[in-house]
Formats: sequence, structure tokens, C-alpha cells
Amino acid sequence: MNLFDVYPINPINIVKGVGSLVYDDKGTEYLDLYGGHAVISIGHTNPHYVKRLEDQLHQIGFYSNSIEIPLQKQLAEKLGKVSGKEHYQLFLCNSGAEANENALKLASFYNGKKKIIAFRKAFHGRTSLAVAATDNAKIVAPVNETDNVIFLPWCDEAALEQAFAQNEISSVIIEGIQGVGGIQVATESFLQKIRSLCDEHNAVFIADSVQCGYGRTGKFYSHDFAGVDADIYSMAKGMGNGFPIGAISISPKIKPAYGMLGTTFGGNHLACAAALAVLEEIEQNNLMQNAAEVGGYLIEELKKFEQVKEVRGRGLMIGIELPEELAHVRKELLNKHHIFTGEAKPNVVRLLPALNLTKAHADQFLTAFAAVLKPASVTA
Ligand SMILES: Cc1ncc(COP(=O)(O)O)c(C=O)c1O
Repeated sequence: MNLFDVYPINPINIVKGVGSLVYDDKGTEYLDLYGGHAVISIGHTNPHYVKRLEDQLHQIGFYSNSIEIPLQKQLAEKLGKVSGKEHYQLFLCNSGAEANENALKLASFYNGKKKIIAFRKAFHGRTSLAVAATDNAKIVAPVNETDNVIFLPWCDEAALEQAFAQNEISSVIIEGIQGVGGIQVATESFLQKIRSLCDEHNAVFIADSVQCGYGRTGKFYSHDFAGVDADIYSMAKGMGNGFPIGAISISPKIKPAYGMLGTTFGGNHLACAAALAVLEEIEQNNLMQNAAEVGGYLIEELKKFEQVKEVRGRGLMIGIELPEELAHVRKELLNKHHIFTGEAKPNVVRLLPALNLTKAHADQFLTAFAAVLKPASVTA
């Protein structure tokens, strides 16, 4: 049997990881500034995480949502505290797409309306509503096409007002910082505008925090920079440090009813143990502060490179926009300097490392980046 060939992959077999370092099957060491797409939030094989998962596995790994799972309550309490949304409600699922799917569905249950506002270059996942709200025609199958999603230009307040005036809006879904879209930071005034229009029209503000959330920007949700609360926050990626888990954090104004949402795997014992380990590590080691400091340092240093067109982002969610003639940079960082980074088309290097990235590792990257940008290597 062959694998269904949908991923363009690097021919590298990573067999081991420690913190922000990973090793291939030949023993070559790589610096991981990609975190498997923003997933590794507290470092590979983090000892506290490994122990908590191992201990849990010896107790019980899985049971479904037909019994009490006290770990879910512990997780809700801890997440409420660390995210500063103690009065919100937690629904657990398994991935980012599923979190957004549930958020969009819940919004429609709540207000009985159908239209969703999403934004140009948005990425919200690959399930039916999430992909319909994703601005990439190539991944929307005919069966996912719907008139219920209205795409608006990024951070255009006039267009937003007009869409609200002309439609019965159920929800607005927005990444605080677009990830796949190239590390575009939503302006604070735009997020505030969404809040006030949602209030005025009884629409639901959904903050997609799957990539930009979980402390990565220095605040728990990047939308927090705007000083307004969303009605639903979706999250996944960094939540389990590699263990598949997603969630939505739901405003108290949205009331639950039996059967409204559901999942077999979501919130199982092992997943909760993983998510708790991540939050404990974030809390105990001030990882949000570290993300703000090391990320802030990287952003300032990167801005000094003349060849760089623009540096965008917050904390440890950083986009480095390069001119076309420097399209080789990412490959060279990987092949010559053994540093993993992400990309956003056409020419943005994306940094999404673990939140406990050290300054020494940030400097290692900056030294390699400088070497790759040297004129000699540009023409190589
Ligand atoms: C902002 C955002 N939302 C949703 C998703 C979908 O998450 P998942 O791949 O876990 O379904 C992603 C994945 O890249 C994402 O970046």
C-alpha cells in the first residue's frame, strides 16, 4: 500500500528531539524554528510533559465523554486562569479545523443566522465550514462551496460595516495574526470594530487562535492586544505540544444544550494530561514572557537586515518577507545551516519555534541568516 501523496516533503528523517533541537537518522542536529508548524510549544520531549503523559498512560489513556473525566475540569480551570478567561466554557476536540467548525456551528445555533464573514488569505482548516471560510479555492471541493461565507479585504473597516449593513451576519472569524496568509497582524482598531459590530448585530466574534494563540505572541490570545474579548476562541497546535487536541473557549452568553456538539476522542485522559502539562510549563517557566522577549529581540535584529523587505509579527510568530531574488534563503538555512523554518507564499520565511526558545538559539539563527544573505551566497 502506498501513502496518499499530498505533501511535498523534505527528504529528512527526524528520529529524536530535545527542546528546540531535532536529530535525523544520521545524527545530524537541526535547530527547529518551525515546531512542526507551530505545534511544539514547550520543546521536544519536554521532561515534565513526558512524565505527565507517561504517568497518565499507566493509569488510563482513553475513555469517552460518557463518564466523568476530572482532568477536563482541571484543564478548564487552568486554561481559564492562564488565558485570563475564567468565566468562559471549554469544549474539547481534536484539531484546529474541528475547533473552527464547532465555533462556526455554535455561532449559528446561538443566533439562528447563516452568514459568516471571513477575510482574504485566511486559513481556518479543511473540514467543510472551516475550508469554506478559507480563502484558497484550490482546497475547497465543490461540495464545500457555499454562499454563506463572505470574504472581505483584510482590516478594511468600511467593507466590514457595509457587509453588516447588507447581510444577516451569524459570525465573524478572524486570525489575530494570519499565519498561512503570511504573518499579517490584525490591527487593534479592526478587532475593536468587529467587537462593536458583533454586539450591535448579535453576531458572534470568533478568534481563530489555532496558530497565533496559546501564548505564542506574548499574550495568551493575540487578539488580546486589542483589549476586547471575542465570544469564541478556537485553539489547537501548541495546546498539546504534539498530542492532537483542539478546543473552543466559549463566552458565558452562549448556553450549552445536550447533543449540540460532540466528539468521540475529544477531551480524553491522555489529551488532557498533555494539555495540562503544556499549561503548567507555560505558567511555571513564564514562557509567554520568554516568547515576548526572545521574539521581540529577533524581530528587532531582523529589521536591521537591509535585504529584508519587511519583518512582521509578534513574539515568536514572525514573518520575514524577502525579495524574489532571495527565494533560496529557506532552503539554504535548512541544507547548509540545518535550521528548520516555515514559509508562506510567495516569499515569507515563517518562524514558529517553541516558546522556550533561548536567546542563544535565536543568535544561532541570526548568524546563519546573515551568512545566507551575504552577497556571495546570493549569487551562488
Ligand atoms: C489559523 C489556523 N486555523 C486552523 C488551522 C487548522 O488546524 P488543523 O490543521 O489542526 O486542523 C490552521 C492550521 O494550519 C491554522 O493555521
